[in-house]
Amino acid sequence: MAEAASPSRFQEFQEILCCPRTKGALSLITVAELLERLPRDERPRVPDGTTAAFVSGSSLTAYPIIGRIVDFLDQDSLRLSNDANENLGKDAHRTSILQSVKRWYDEFGWQSNERGVYNDTATFSQVASTAHGFYELSSHLSLLDRLAGGKYILDAASGPIAHPENLAYSWLYKYHVCVDISLKALQEADTKLGSRGFYCMVDICHLPFRDAVFDGAVSGYTIQHIEASRQSTAVAELYRVLRPGAHLCVISSVNSTRTHRVLMRIMSGIRRALRLLRADASRRREQTHFGNSSPAPPHELYFYGRDLAWWRDRASELTASYSVEALRLFSKEEFEFFFNDSRRAAIAARKLETLFPRITARICTYILLDLHKPITIGCGFRKTPE
Ligand SMILES: C[S@@+](CC[C@H](N)C(=O)[O-])C[C@H]1O[C@@H](n2cnc3c(N)ncnc32)[C@H](O)[C@@H]1O
Repeated sequence: MAEAASPSRFQEFQEILCCPRTKGALSLITVAELLERLPRDERPRVPDGTTAAFVSGSSLTAYPIIGRIVDFLDQDSLRLSNDANENLGKDAHRTSILQSVKRWYDEFGWQSNERGVYNDTATFSQVASTAHGFYELSSHLSLLDRLAGGKYILDAASGPIAHPENLAYSWLYKYHVCVDISLKALQEADTKLGSRGFYCMVDICHLPFRDAVFDGAVSGYTIQHIEASRQSTAVAELYRVLRPGAHLCVISSVNSTRTHRVLMRIMSGIRRALRLLRADASRRREQTHFGNSSPAPPHELYFYGRDLAWWRDRASELTASYSVEALRLFSKEEFEFFFNDSRRAAIAARKLETLFPRITARICTYILLDLHKPITIGCGFRKTPE
């Protein structure tokens, strides 16, 4: 867990921050000033461990800073006057999905199981140095050549940086800015990034950042967990904070196409035939799911998947300079079902995906959406990226 960071550390971040609601400027105050400015009935809501706060003059709202984490969530913001925050409650009906996703990750997804692996990772992702782990890692590293470096990279929503390779996303940047609604996620991310990280607990549909301040942005496996009616807002918000010339890389699952399903059926048939030929029916892959002793999730995790056409429409609304590429043809279940622990299969699949990214995008399970923000030169002309 982070040691208390000095307020001067946060002064530097003021250059990128704004009020998540009004987008107005924020000022930094100490905890003593905060207590002095809050109405008496609001003071008990100041979280333990608060060292300072960001204050929005326009909305008369304070956002507490706890350790290295700034809490920009509506539900935790503090009223500086009795008239303030009138509008925040109006979104209450929309926040139930957000709350249920937050609870899933805080209480289950980012808790570690008996083997020290995050429950989310054990369920959907790599568990150890398996062939699927290699497949996934290699696909994540393919983002690196789009992250050209600078002062700030945005990781939305970072989780706890569960994949070690994601640490490399910020190698060429001064600060790795992690945002997430899960406190547990950000506390864990802090143990990995330390003072190279800046951590904001926030809904990515209302980012507390000024326009065009990030020199790169990534968002892995998150949009599908945002309420369907707000997913476009989230993508537009990520693009808004991107600096011209920089790339926003979004990783998302896509709804399975007919071609993907046919391909899976053909591969199942081939697999069955091969097993019969080898009289090898007893060979069972090792189960990598969490065991019986793992805790159960508090409820089902909200998920609303989109198809390729939806992603293309969102991208083209924002920029003419985008690509939708295959990240991985196979989900974890599919990969392990067909190939067990075959590294050769992982290498072959990656070769296919990298050689034919746009064709394989039509039949893949996970896509990489790369949005490049054009540089406007003089009289509104746009420089076409390479
Ligand atoms: C599947 S995890 C992905 C984590 C990480 N990007 C990765 O690739 O491992 C999804 C993350 O999104 C966060 N999340 C979901 N909805 C969010 C929202 N509206 N705003 C910010 N974070 C959100 C969850 O708390 C969780 O940490």
